[in-house]
Amino acid sequence: MSNDFDPRALRNALGCYVTGVTIVTTMTPEGPLGMTANSFASVSLDPPLVLWSPARKSARFPAFEAASHFAVHVLAEDQRPLSDAFAKSGLEAFDGLAFEHGLGGVPLLNGCVARFECIQSAGHDGGDHLILVGEVKRYLGSDLSPLVYHRGSYAALA
Ligand SMILES: Cc1cc2nc3c(=O)[nH]c(=O)nc-3n(C[C@H](O)[C@H](O)[C@H](O)COP(=O)(O)O)c2cc1C
Repeated sequence: MSNDFDPRALRNALGCYVTGVTIVTTMTPEGPLGMTANSFASVSLDPPLVLWSPARKSARFPAFEAASHFAVHVLAEDQRPLSDAFAKSGLEAFDGLAFEHGLGGVPLLNGCVARFECIQSAGHDGGDHLILVGEVKRYLGSDLSPLVYHRGSYAALA
């Protein structure tokens, strides 16, 4: 499959879609791993399924592809530094960061708007990304205000 789209123009058009910001975490033999991701989406209520898409070219991709469990943290508006840290580095971002161990030993961060602990249940081809589906086994939500992402920049709800 190929096309003549200008990648930057396509990226700009896709960036018109407003999203929240999440950090997806998992446990690896090298330690806790995380990645900032806005590809998160809800899929199904019964069974409870969510998805997100790691890029195949990411250094973190093999660990997320192989993971049996992952957790999705929906970030609060004051967690932009965490988003920046986990966009830059997968392992070092945990240095000095407090976390608990959830299902499957997955690192759990606090202070987020919502959190979903999942068993990885399927992977689907998504071009240069992999669509990973998780079955939600535990979750929490709150009334905190979310961090928002739009046209390549952070924002907050008015
Ligand atoms: C707001 C935001 C959303 C992102 N969403 C995704 C995503 O859904 N999937 C993905 O693979 N990378 C996403 N990234 C990029 C990763 O967080 C990270 O920068 C990238 O994996 C770096 O490459 P590396 O894993 O090789 O270090 C996002 C970054 C930002 C700042």
